[in-house]
Amino acid sequence: MRVVRTISELEDAIKALRREGQKVAFVPTMGALHAGHLSLVEIARELAEIVVVSIFVNPTQFAPGEDFERYPRQEEADLAKLEGHVEIVWLPGVEDIYPDGAVRTVTAPGNVQVLCGASREGHFDGVATVVKRLLEVVQPDMAIFGEKDYQQLHMIRELVKTHALPVKIVHAPIVREEDGLAMSSRNRYLSDDARKKAPLVFTVLRQIAQAVYQGETRLGTLLDDARNRLDKAGFVLEYLELRDAETLASVSSPLHAPARIFIAVYLGNTRLIDNIEIWNTI
Ligand code: PAF
Repeated sequence: MRVVRTISELEDAIKALRREGQKVAFVPTMGALHAGHLSLVEIARELAEIVVVSIFVNPTQFAPGEDFERYPRQEEADLAKLEGHVEIVWLPGVEDIYPDGAVRTVTAPGNVQVLCGASREGHFDGVATVVKRLLEVVQPDMAIFGEKDYQQLHMIRELVKTHALPVKIVHAPIVREEDGLAMSSRNRYLSDDARKKAPLVFTVLRQIAQAVYQGETRLGTLLDDARNRLDKAGFVLEYLELRDAETLASVSSPLHAPARIFIAVYLGNTRLIDNIEIWNTI
């Protein structure tokens, strides 16, 4: 495994490894790696001869007052997890990604004013800017993103279309703890008590999905029941919504397909997001 920092080191490493006809799969991350990230690496491994992982805590996707400063940084532990599984780890500095004045902010395409975009001002523009930059530097054949950040995945698909970026976007299912909590680098912020409560987020999503499969059509009742349950357990709900899985447009019928339910809650100071597929016709 080669660990590189500058863009020219990265380009040299790819050039040295890549043989005629070989493919490069790319997994961009912000580090603090967990089993969810490693599942993306596994998918990359199946798709390409050369797997590149980047670790960069991107300042432009954190709104003022968010957790940029305290976002976990653990380079050594991350490298140990990747050793033997990937060919190249790229650890750029801010000056590599945002050289003075040379990178324009990209306006995030897609349905980014709703869900997380409604409260996280500038977040998706920051993600669009860094992802476009990373893809342009690495030039992979495919890049892998998790469905946990489903709106991000939606935006990146639109980004690739809008800017005609020559890369295939591959999506990977959410990886969960045994009790159902979706894996996230931010789960470590949860107090012991909050960690015990946190699986309720997935429990209510699963219950709504199951009720719909069993023929329940009163969406409003299902969502209200879930809201009440979360409220009683001490969660502060940001949103709980059924939306079209491709366009993220709001839908009112639980029979709409393809559809997903999206949720964001606060538990203490920690924001948790999750989603579940209801119907899949994609
Ligand atoms: O999903 C993440 O970890 C980040 O948003 C990403 C895609 C690496 C961009 O910084």
